[in-house]
Amino acid sequence: MVILGIETSCDETAIAVIEIGDPKKKPRIKILSNIILSQIPFHRKFGGVVPNLAKREHQRNLAPILIRALKEAELRNSKSEIRNPKQIQNSKLQVLNSILEREPELLERFKKDVVPIRPPQVDAIAVTTGPGLEPALWTGVNFARALSFLWKKPIIPVNHLEGHIYTVMLGNRPALKQMFQLQELKPPTLVLIASGGHTELILMRKPGLYSVIGETRDDAAGEAFDKVARLLGLGYPGGPEIAAQAAKIKIGSSKLKISLPRPMIKSPDFDFSFSGLKTAVRYLLQDLQKKHSLKNLRGPISKEFQDAVVEVLVAKTIRAAKKFKVKSVILGGGVAANKLLRETLEKEVKRQLPSTTLHLPATSLTGDNALMIALAAYFSKKEKHWSKLRAIANMRLDKKSR
Ligand code: KG4
Ligand code: ZN
Repeated sequence: MVILGIETSCDETAIAVIEIGDPKKKPRIKILSNIILSQIPFHRKFGGVVPNLAKREHQRNLAPILIRALKEAELRNSKSEIRNPKQIQNSKLQVLNSILEREPELLERFKKDVVPIRPPQVDAIAVTTGPGLEPALWTGVNFARALSFLWKKPIIPVNHLEGHIYTVMLGNRPALKQMFQLQELKPPTLVLIASGGHTELILMRKPGLYSVIGETRDDAAGEAFDKVARLLGLGYPGGPEIAAQAAKIKIGSSKLKISLPRPMIKSPDFDFSFSGLKTAVRYLLQDLQKKHSLKNLRGPISKEFQDAVVEVLVAKTIRAAKKFKVKSVILGGGVAANKLLRETLEKEVKRQLPSTTLHLPATSLTGDNALMIALAAYFSKKEKHWSKLRAIANMRLDKKSR
């Protein structure tokens, strides 16, 4: 089965193609192409993602990235065979016009670059339908609808968080164009998703069967990194900036005694709350800046903040893993790039849950990508007709919102 994946839920425009098979239930995968275009430079000056700017960039980039992805995938029918765009019937053009009427720039590029190529040998189109930024999601969804109509291929809608979950099945360093076996996940599985938009603990009894057992009541972990980075005058995205500042501080080297709260670490539930931590950083800064320069405060505050977030995430994950007696633990989402989080979780799972397997995602795939969307589609296999497809900005994992 060849699946073309499309991801536009936030600030990455991504398209990937995979070939995946189920020889006697041990699926093997070949990544034929995996293209990710980050919009970070456009959003950086605003200190966060601007939804309409994201939509504009997705509109500009989807068609060229599709062409690149198909070329890289070397699929039959997608290389040199070009049809005359004039051959396309007027009635078909009218449908395309109506599918992409809210994305005029994408429509123009679609007619110019996509309509002329013959349908490639793909079996399904996978697209993120939620959760995410509404205008950004719709751009990818409408692009997938147009492709599905033009090429007569089914669409598989994918929940973005499911993509982050299945990423770990690709192992540590998934190579391009080589067939390899997917890693097995022993059920039941506990998933910690920590990204810019989500912080959730999910109990997965089998692929497709999820219960969200805890989530953030306010800011997501990645969002807290981004907001604290802003307070410290660091760039966007804040996660890598804070991690780099924290890495400069050796244990005991700072004379400043800084201590931040570990919000909800002892609460009996599995929820999180990070907005108070950000406020605590704000007050701390106001106080300390009376005596110290911001430059000298960045390192120690970053370190204490990162320690606080990681401690809370790991403590709750371990407690949930024990309570639900899971056989495997998965980490996913943009914050999974954080070295301290990866190392601490690894250490604590080994120490406290020696018979549980921890699956960490490849660091090259912790951020948003379309490979994970194509992979998740393989497991969901729920096809939907293009005319019925919708973007759902607040889509949840545990409700049948697809
Ligand atoms: O999953 P993702 O790419 O996008 C969403 O779906 O939200 O996550 C992006 C988030 C940002 O908030 C970013 O600051 C955070 O992941 N992030 C990190 C690191 N790298 C990215 N947070 C902590 N440490 C990192 N090294
Ligand atoms: Zn994400």
